[in-house]
Amino acid sequence: MYKQLQQRGMESPPTNISMLRKMKEDDLPIACLTAYDASFAQLVDMAGTDVVLVGDSLGMVVQGHDTTVPVTVDDIIYHTAMVARGLTHAFLMADMPFMSYTTPEQALDNAVRLMQEGGSMMVKLEGNEGQVTVVEYLAKHDIPVCAHLGLRPQSVHKIGGFKVQGRDNAIAKKMAQDAKTLQSAGADIILLECVPNEVGQNITKLVDVPVIGIGAGPHVDGQILVLYDVLGITQGRLPRFVKNFMDGAESPLAALGAYVNAVKTGAYPTKEHCFS
Ligand code: KIV
Repeated sequence: MYKQLQQRGMESPPTNISMLRKMKEDDLPIACLTAYDASFAQLVDMAGTDVVLVGDSLGMVVQGHDTTVPVTVDDIIYHTAMVARGLTHAFLMADMPFMSYTTPEQALDNAVRLMQEGGSMMVKLEGNEGQVTVVEYLAKHDIPVCAHLGLRPQSVHKIGGFKVQGRDNAIAKKMAQDAKTLQSAGADIILLECVPNEVGQNITKLVDVPVIGIGAGPHVDGQILVLYDVLGITQGRLPRFVKNFMDGAESPLAALGAYVNAVKTGAYPTKEHCFS
């Protein structure tokens, strides 16, 4: 559990949003991972991860659903509270699940629950220009927000599958414009999923806030992967951007350390993990 007061003045204090912004400014890659319980959160934290996300991916990797759509606010709170107990340094972000932010008021109620009951420090929502008023409202109430663009898994049934986004020039342009607009609305971080390298690079240059990528190429400010993918737990066909860091590692902690090191040194992602 964070002991913010005790850790004040320590050599390595807990990560906060100012530190993440400074990492972007200084060109220091931000290493992020998902986690869903206290034991794994502790390992992820010990490995030196900067940001931990309690993602609604838990619907797939923990609950066994085919999509993230069935995940509820109560589910996210339950897992976020467990993860918070395992962390001492990493910045904790929690997903706003499907249909939990359809109006500014509903979004605020749910975001407050994720922060007060779960202990998250930032909420993440999947958005484009349709979520600008929600982001504005949350920012107006000092709720830190990460806006998730590119492939938005909560929209999988509308999109028609988990597909790379932004290969089309007009869509890439629109995504860049949305990133800028969401930043102006108050988003503190942009997360980009499954986009060509060029789109990731362009948006990273365009906005001042940190851009975290998953399948968004090497030219973003940070990388995130689903914990179970990094540890080789997920079975079946995996997305191109996934790398199993358990290969050749002595322990889960060593594998997580190898992931963090690979992100920080730029050794991950390589061409084989990227989309063009
Ligand atoms: O839900 C999740 O884990 C996510 C990551 C894939 C970024 O949104």
